Amino acid sequence: MSDQKRTMLVTSALPYANGSIHLGHLVEYIQTDIWVRFQKMRGHDCTYVCADDAHGTPIMLRAQQAGVEPEQLIADVAREHRADFAEFLIEFDNYHSTHSPENRELSELIYCRNRDAGHITTRTITQAYDPEKQMFLPDRFIRGECPRCGAADQYGDNCEACGATYAPTELKNPRSAVSGATPVAKESLQYFFNLGNFETLLKKWTRAGHLQSEVANKLDEWFAEGLQEWDISRNAPYFGFEIPDAPGKFFYVWMDAPIGYMASFKNLCERTGMDFDAYWRAGSATELYHFIGKDIIRFHALFWPAMLSGAGFRTPTAIFAHGFLTVNGQKMSKSRGTFIKARTYLEHLNPEYLRYYFAAKLGSDIDDLDLNLDDFVKRVNSDLVGKYVNIASRTANFIVKQFDGELLGVAEFSASPDRQAQYMADVSAAAQQIAEHYEAREYSQAVRKIMEMADGINQDFDEQEPWKLAKDPERKDELQRICSRILHGFYCLSICLAPILPAMSARVARELFGMSRDFNWDDLNSFPARIAAFKHLATRVEANAISALLEASKESMAEAQQAPAGPLAEDPLSPIIDYDDFARLDLRVARIVKADAVEKADKLLRLTLDLGGETRNVFAGIKSAYAPEDLEGRLTIMVANLAPRKMRFGVSEGMVLAAGPGGKDLFILEPDDGAQPGMRVK
Ligand code: 2FM
Ligand code: ZN
Repeated sequence: MSDQKRTMLVTSALPYANGSIHLGHLVEYIQTDIWVRFQKMRGHDCTYVCADDAHGTPIMLRAQQAGVEPEQLIADVAREHRADFAEFLIEFDNYHSTHSPENRELSELIYCRNRDAGHITTRTITQAYDPEKQMFLPDRFIRGECPRCGAADQYGDNCEACGATYAPTELKNPRSAVSGATPVAKESLQYFFNLGNFETLLKKWTRAGHLQSEVANKLDEWFAEGLQEWDISRNAPYFGFEIPDAPGKFFYVWMDAPIGYMASFKNLCERTGMDFDAYWRAGSATELYHFIGKDIIRFHALFWPAMLSGAGFRTPTAIFAHGFLTVNGQKMSKSRGTFIKARTYLEHLNPEYLRYYFAAKLGSDIDDLDLNLDDFVKRVNSDLVGKYVNIASRTANFIVKQFDGELLGVAEFSASPDRQAQYMADVSAAAQQIAEHYEAREYSQAVRKIMEMADGINQDFDEQEPWKLAKDPERKDELQRICSRILHGFYCLSICLAPILPAMSARVARELFGMSRDFNWDDLNSFPARIAAFKHLATRVEANAISALLEASKESMAEAQQAPAGPLAEDPLSPIIDYDDFARLDLRVARIVKADAVEKADKLLRLTLDLGGETRNVFAGIKSAYAPEDLEGRLTIMVANLAPRKMRFGVSEGMVLAAGPGGKDLFILEPDDGAQPGMRVK
């Protein structure tokens, strides 16, 4: 091991349990995973935990729309998230959920300790309330006209047209995005965390090296504005944990989300016997790191350390914020096909290529990172395939064929002792620099150094011309010496790349160098005695794989929008779609030949639809408005080309269109009498 053994707990932000993982998320998981793998390779005791962020109004409403319980929705999404992470080689030591017994216990504990220490106050406030849906509305669920520029259909907290920020009460003609009703103002008692009590502590903490300088500067701005009390409660109905002394009040999702880090770790401790308190007690010598996006700094750098210290726990060693992902220089866009889901990427490209590209562009700052798809193709093909893999593919077989796989030891790589000493000193200095870059999260610099080494090794190959030596029986020793040196270079590169390319480097360790385990950093100090025949390691990316990925992302977007009730739809509200998205909809006249209530589903009817010869089974959330017998024989309009969707009660093969705010006021669309089942809607 290269330095003193450290004990570290590392987290990535918890993804919400109502949407798919996309490439924007992956910047962070890949960044964290590389760092954790590096620490583990160095021999440190490093534990990486994460969880699904399962609470809150959007998840509750999404589940309602899908006609399932929230528990069902979050279980389905968790399965999907885990599979995506595993295929991107994101190796958590534990992946849990904020909707867990551990998180309930810890949230209650942290709340009660803060309450008992005088850090919680209650106060009655007025908020927007949906009288129809009988729920308080988060700002994002109120729509109306911007009070500044008058743009229609803006969110309750900011205008996407002119950028104004405002209170939802200022919106003109507001309406609930849930039911369409006009919100009314309603009073309720709320629970507040007194952030101001922690001002001295937070100011000191901010300047004590726990934050990047850009982040510390941002905090100074917030200190100057004054620390406000933070509302940590939400009224029922809410999917979350009820506050212990407050029936009908729930912890706001952002209160129990970071506690989810602790809860996931606690769950790991319970399974493995690790010591939870040793990591979390005040003054713990273990290190705690949170990787986050720059949009959630306030929650992690203000509320979180304050809540922890108010409850007598340790505070984080450091918070590492990163920027957002752009694709081809622009915000990810659904209509351009650049809003790419992890799963869609996996269907077209190798996950390690994205890991490599992100690493090649990631630094330790909070700048945005651009995935330029042309550059992606070039870098993968020229760096990974053209420089790195090429070294082994053109050298290994000289050793295999002419020397039965036998490599010379490191002391025999050069003819002269001076050059030998220089070679070893260069390798060791380069490895040291690369390690420092990884430690500092300057992965782009690590990659630059690694590729410089690869260039040097390829140059060595070209200058020594081993293919000529192979033809000269007199120069066999020279051939073995040169090829061993070049393959030693490849071996070192593989170790240095292992945090970024864990699967490829594992194959190099095991298949090529015959090791019985994956690489660790100390392997730089030794060299295997043999090499096996080279086997294919990486394929070039073809441009058509990129166009297919973009095309498929457009399609998955169209599906998401045609299925707003689906658990994985991107936005339950009203995203703008372009004409092409619209044109993909196949709307048809259908006759409802049969309608049945679905047992255990409050809102669903199972409809058997005749599409002019073809029969479809469709679940429709219209039970509150129609008795099954009222529907039989009627004509309606359906989306006929919606991908079949597996629901708890069976497969739904399309969607029936209905209008209205919900409840009894829901009306299926009915064409005039002359329409016939199967006719296209134009
Ligand atoms: O912004 C988000 O996606 C949140 N789900 C992140 C939560 S991180 C932590 F605090 F739990
Ligand atoms: Zn505006």
